[in-house]
This record gives sequence, structure tokens and C-alpha cells, in this order.
Amino acid sequence: MSKKPLILGIESSCDETAASIISENDQGIPIILSNIVSSQIDIHKEFGGVVPELAARSHIEKIDWIVKKAIDDSGVKINEIDAIASTAGPGLIVCLSVGLSFGKAFALSLNKPFIAVNHLEGHALSPKLSSKLNYPYLLLLISGGHSQYLCVKNLSNYKRLGTTIDDAIGEAFDKTAKILGIEFPGGPQIEILSKKGNPNKYNLPKPIFNKGGCNLSFAGLKTAVLRIAKEIKTDQEKFDLAASFQKTVIEILYKKTKNAFFEFEKEIKTEEKKFVVAGGVAANKEIRNMLNNLCAEKNYTPFFPNIEFCGDNAAMIAMVGLEKFKKGKFSELSHPAIPRWPLDKQAKFLKGAGVKFD
Ligand code: KG4
Ligand code: ZN
Repeated sequence: MSKKPLILGIESSCDETAASIISENDQGIPIILSNIVSSQIDIHKEFGGVVPELAARSHIEKIDWIVKKAIDDSGVKINEIDAIASTAGPGLIVCLSVGLSFGKAFALSLNKPFIAVNHLEGHALSPKLSSKLNYPYLLLLISGGHSQYLCVKNLSNYKRLGTTIDDAIGEAFDKTAKILGIEFPGGPQIEILSKKGNPNKYNLPKPIFNKGGCNLSFAGLKTAVLRIAKEIKTDQEKFDLAASFQKTVIEILYKKTKNAFFEFEKEIKTEEKKFVVAGGVAANKEIRNMLNNLCAEKNYTPFFPNIEFCGDNAAMIAMVGLEKFKKGKFSELSHPAIPRWPLDKQAKFLKGAGVKFD
């Protein structure tokens, strides 16, 4: 039996410092030997959002013991590691630089290959940590910074089918939470409060619902929440607004995912239609339920990452590292941090007031 690759993944693009070691079994299924994530929520919550300088300082303070813990927990010896994969973008440049520089220095000192990873590709491959999943597939990436439908043709080969033209969906959840007086990051709390509310109480707008293919827009929804929130007086009304917001998001995703299925089928001719939902918002159970039902209706097989791999983590970065390692796709030690790094470089920039759909 040949030695299986052992990959160290490092993540520091935003407010999680993370390291993980993964390998794979004889069937090519990944094995997670360790997965350490240290969140900075407590540092940022009093500011209501991530403060880049504080985030970078915290990454610097923690990165060495997080990586050491990942190695210790894995039971692997340092010199058995075959390659080091670090997130190189997109993200906050001061944060990215910490994990990227650490990974490069570690690779250099061990004389092992270095692999620069796109954080979004980490999310795109995250369901592979727990399920067998082959290319091609349709991806809905829903996180704090991104909301996109992508056709995943192969490793590092993406075609964007739709994107948000303003706020990301996680951002809309977090902003709604803030308006309702819930601590950052409020997305998961909206899901909890929604259970106590009447989703039909408030009629909220669904921007570009009947146009723009599978492009998305959430800014108008947030503005409507802000206007209604000024009038509400009771906790029950707050729960009703949270529930109405979540229901509206679900209705938008239902319609737009149907459009994305149509676009995907134009792009890829395949009998086996697979739909992956990844990123922090993929943890939302109501969204999962609706998308599972839609997949059953339209003959798609749904794939969700395990809840622990929805948010930012380094196992997903190691997963990309593992696939690149097997293809011999290594990076130079001069590889820069890339704050804006779309998965589909050909896709048009679709943000701002100038974007119009017929
Ligand atoms: O992928 P992620 O951890 O970080 C980014 O790369 O952005 O996503 C974080 C986002 C936050 O906006 C958070 O509020 C949202 O995911 N989120 C949720 C839930 N859990 C996390 N939004 C709605 N419902 C949830 N259960
Ligand atoms: Zn992320």
C-alpha cells in the first residue's frame, strides 16, 4: 500500500484562525485527522462586525499554537506532512498575510511543496470532506461575503451562473439581526427567533424576483426590514419580522435555484444532476429543507457539508490542497495574498446601482 498524502491546511482569511491535517483512504475518501478552529467572535462583537486590525493581531497571536495543535491532535510527525496549503484569498489582506506567510515559511523549512488556495474553492469542495462527490456539479455558495451560483466543471474550473448584485445573503441575515438588536454575527439567531414568529405577518420585497436569471439582490429586503423595525414594539413583532425575513429569503432562493438548475442544464449535459450548497448560511436548516425538497422535485442529488464545515475552517482548505497535490499543482513561494479573487475570472463584475436587468 503506497503512502497516502498528508496535507496541512491553514485558514486566516477573516475572523477564524484554523489548521487541519487530512489524508485519504484507499478508496480516495478524505480522512480528517485534525480540525482546529479558533473563532474571534468575542473580539469583534462589541464593534458589530469584523475589525481588520484586531483580526490580524489575533491571527498572529494564535497561528503557531493552532498549527501545533492540529499536528499534535493528528498524531502525525511534522516531517511526514507532504504539502502545506494556505488560503491566499479572497479576504482581508492583513488577515490573509498571516496564514499565507506562516504556510510558506513552514513549507520552506520542511522542504515540502506549498499550495495557495482560493477560500471560495475551499467552500466549493467542503461537502467532499463527508461525501463522495465527483465533478461536474452546480454550486450555491452562500456565506457572509458571497452569494453565487456556479457551475463547477472541474478542480479550479468554474463558470459563474449568477451572483448577488448588492449584499451577500449572510450579510442580509447579519444586518437584519443587527436591526433587531441581536449581537453579531446574528445569522444563526435569526433562524432561532424565526421559530417563534409568524412568517406571514410582514410582506417583504423580493428584488429582481422575476428577472435577472439566477442573479440575486438583498439590499431592498434589508431596507424594508429597517423601515418595519422602526414601528415594532413587542418581542412577538420582532419574532414575526425575523420569521418573515427568513421566509422571504427562502422564497427568493427557491425561485432562483430553479432558474439556476435551468442554466446549469444548458451548460452541462449530464444524467447525474448534483447540487451542492456550501458556506456559512448552508447551516440554516429551513434553507436546507426547502432546497432538499426542490432537489427531490427536480431530480437533483443534494449535497451539504457537515455543519462543522459550513463556516470557515481549514479542513476545506486542506481538501483543495489534497486535490491539487494529487495533480502536482504547486505554487511559488512568491504567491501573493489576493483580496479579490473570483472563482470565475471571466465573469462580469455585477455590483452597484448601474446593474440593470430587462
Ligand atoms: O462561510 P462563513 O463562515 O464566512 C464567510 O466566508 O463569509 O459564513 C458566515 C455567514 C455569516 O453571515 C453568518 O451570519 C451566516 O453565515 N450564518 C447563518 C447561519 N449560520 C451562519 N445565516 C443564517 N442561518 C444560519 N443558521
Ligand atoms: Zn468563508
